Formats: sequence, structure tokens, C-alpha cells
Amino acid sequence: MIYDLIVLGGGPAGYLASERAGHAGMSVVCFEKKSVGGVCLNEGCIPTKTLLYSAKLFDGVAYGEKYGISATGLSIDQTKVIERKNKVIRTLVAGVKGTLKANHVTLVESEAVITGRNSEGYTVIANGETYTGKRLLIATGSSPSVPPIPGLNEGIASGFVMTNREALQITEVPKELVVIGGGVIGLEMASYYNSVGSKVTIIEMLDHIAGENDPDLIKLLQKNYEKKGMVFHLNAKVTEVKSDSVLFEKDGQVQSVSADKVLLSIGRRANIQGIGLETINVLTERGAIVTDNHMKTNQPEVYAAGDVNGKSMLAHTAYREAEVAVNVMLGKRDTMRYIAIPGVIYTNPEIASVGETEYTAKNKGLDVDIIKIPMRFSGRYLAENEGGDGICKLVINKQGRTIVGAQVLANYSSEFIIACATFIELQLTLEDIKEIVFPHPTVCEIIREAVFQY
Ligand code: NAI
Repeated sequence: MIYDLIVLGGGPAGYLASERAGHAGMSVVCFEKKSVGGVCLNEGCIPTKTLLYSAKLFDGVAYGEKYGISATGLSIDQTKVIERKNKVIRTLVAGVKGTLKANHVTLVESEAVITGRNSEGYTVIANGETYTGKRLLIATGSSPSVPPIPGLNEGIASGFVMTNREALQITEVPKELVVIGGGVIGLEMASYYNSVGSKVTIIEMLDHIAGENDPDLIKLLQKNYEKKGMVFHLNAKVTEVKSDSVLFEKDGQVQSVSADKVLLSIGRRANIQGIGLETINVLTERGAIVTDNHMKTNQPEVYAAGDVNGKSMLAHTAYREAEVAVNVMLGKRDTMRYIAIPGVIYTNPEIASVGETEYTAKNKGLDVDIIKIPMRFSGRYLAENEGGDGICKLVINKQGRTIVGAQVLANYSSEFIIACATFIELQLTLEDIKEIVFPHPTVCEIIREAVFQY
């Protein structure tokens, strides 16, 4: 049989593209070598949120006195937390499998490698069998980067050094956890282990944590975590991983921090090796597949979506890219836009952002004004965050009077940042937004408050 579409990878990009294409009547075969749902569902987004919810409940009681709650003998059962996480994953994986089936997608749970192209289409081999498809979607995702630091590979082999995968599986809470890399994964896992009792130290190469996020929010987040006992070493270069400690260089001096576990979270690399890209000459650049905004590669009817194209390593970007790819295959007009992709770091409090920051806007020479207000301008926020000191920032295009960016440090911001993404996408003016009724009392009213400051 010749399939209409071969999909390599069953993560968010791969499974959603398969579902959409199957739904539209295409014959689809999707290959997954580990577990359907990919990193997001099995060892990323969903499991971390499951763990972080337990931590949030725990913190709610542990720091509950200011809300009139006191408890003694509070403890967290890491084994139960992990079991619940596994149950959530099982439920969601079963759901994805069911949806694939309902959309008539053939799921092959095996590794597949591209072997070439013939007059009928593209060929891949899996389990010794050759499959042919008229189109190919590469959605093989990404893996943790492992830099050439002495002792790191030995640490990974012994289990002393973990990636996100192992950090979501250990049933014993480390007494001392050292996190290499203060980005998204590092901060989320650090947040969890800080809550459940580990002494957490973050070693970050740059002079700030949390990547491209707004410095005002980042500093406040760091201060919050320092109050909770987390230690940050910025501008610090890891020089060696020993069997019970990590050495790093800071201000020209080598320092050591002891650990019983280390988390490596210094970024991810697209999975482009070993999948046979060279057999069909797919163009790659800086370690990722080159795609246009229709998710097309340099080869006819070969598409790439999700982390593997390195554009924006986020599950929600992958979903949308997958839909664009399938729509283009179906001859529909659709184009991927990257201007309003929300980003969230699920710390406690969480940071949600979309579009330009003050820094990126000014760097691009945009003529912008900045609105910055404290979260206590929201009654609901104050009711639920005793002494909480979040921030909301909006980046306003002066000429068009439109929002071009928003950053919020406050819990629930992950749930309402989409409102700002919508304002950016639709280019609503501040006057348009002022006419919109926000539910009261909600934390999202902070956006309305901010808009009315202008
Ligand atoms: P990241 O790119 O977010 O952060 C890596 C951090 O490590 C950076 O701050 C970088 O400066 C630092 N770093 C790099 N080399 C270093 C070294 N040798 N020593 C010390 N620090 C070093 O990468 P991360 O956290 O590994 O996440 C990977 C990907 O997964 C990201 O692209 C992220 O978008 C995605 N992700 C998204 C989540 C979300 O949306 N909530 C959750 C988890 C992951």
C-alpha cells in the first residue's frame, strides 16, 4: 500500500498531524519508537505539571499560616506523587492512541528510518518492513544537549546526573540537588524539588535565569526563590562533575557545591541524526531541519514540524505547525506565524509572556511605551496571594496603540496570556480592548487595569 502520508514521530507535532490528516481522509502511518505523546506527554510538559501541582498544594499548607491555616506533621510522599504522574500519563497516552485509531491512523510503535525516494514516493524502513508514502512529515522532536564537561557522561551513566526524564522518575527526594542551567526545565524542576525539601543550587552560565524573559520579572522570581532557600550562581561555568559534587568557575575562582543528584538542563537539540535525512538530502542548518512558514523543507512533499525544525521548541508551537503542514498538504491556505506564541514557566508564581519584551522591542528599534503595574492592582490576586508581589508589563506600540508584548509574573497567568496573544494577533487597539468586559473578580483583570493606565 502507498500511504498518503508517513509521519515520523508520535509527539505533539506527529500525533496531531496524523489525527488531522486522518480526519481529512488521508491514509496515514505514524511511527513512534518510544511512547506515543512524545517528550511533552511522557517526560515533559504534563508530568512536570502533575508534580508541580502536588508541590503547590504542599506549599499552600506549608506557607498557610498567613491564610489562617496551620498544620503539623506535613509530609510529601514522593512515591505516590510519581505514581499519580504515571497514571496521568497512562490516561493521556491511551487517549491519544484512541484518537489516532478513531481517525484511521496506522500507528507503528517502532523506530523508522528514511531510506530514500522512488517513483511512488518516500520510503522508510521499520521493523524490517518498508513503507511508502506520497508525503513525509518529520516530527522527531529533540533531546537534551550534553556539553563536553569532564565527568558529565560518567555522571549520566551512574545515575548521579539526571535529565528531565530521570528527574520525573526518582522516588527519593535528593537532599542536595544541583541544577546546571537556569532555563525553563531547570527552574520548573528546581521549583518542585525546593518545595519538597531538597536544598537546590542553580548554576547558570549567563548573568540571569529564565532566558529571554523580562528582567524585572526574572529578578523578582529569583528573589522569591532565594527567600525559599534556593541558591543561584550566575555567570558561572561548570568545569567538572565529580561523583558527589559539581565544580564551577565564577569570577575567576573555582568553587565546589556538593550534591546527591545533579540535573542537566542546558537546552535541547533537534533529533536529526540517524533518521536517514541524508538519503533524501533534506537541508539542515545549525542542527535543525530548515522549513519555511508552510513547514515545507527543501524537498518536495517533505515537511517538518515541532522541535526538529528548531524554530520554537514548544508543544503548542508544534501543534500549530502540524496543522499548518496538513492544511498545506490538503491544498488549503495556511501559514505559520510566530509573533504571538505564548511562553510559560510553571514556577510558583509562574511567568507567562507573549510577543515583544521591553528589551526585544527596543532592540528592534520599535517605538514603544511600557506599562508596568504590580499584581496587587487585582483584587482577586490580592485575596489569594498574601504579600504576593507579582508584576504585569505590557509593551505598547505607540503609533498603532496596539499591544505588541505582555509579561506577567503571577499564578494563573498561564491561563490568561492567550488573551494578550489574541490582542496581538488581531492587532486590537487599546480602545478596542477597553470596551471588552473582563470577568470580575479575576486575576486577568490586571490586563484591563494595565491598559487603562495608558
Ligand atoms: P533553556 O534553553 O530554556 O535553558 C537552558 C539554560 O542553560 C540557559 O539559561 C543557558 O544559558 C544555560 N546554560 C547553557 N549551557 C550552560 C552551561 N554549560 N552551564 C550552565 N548553564 C548553561 O533549556 P531547557 O531548560 O533545557 O529547556 C529545553 C527546551 O524545552 C526549551 O526550548 C523549552 O522551551 C522547552 N520546555 C518548555 C517548557 C514550558 O514551556 N513550560 C517546559 C520545559 C521545557
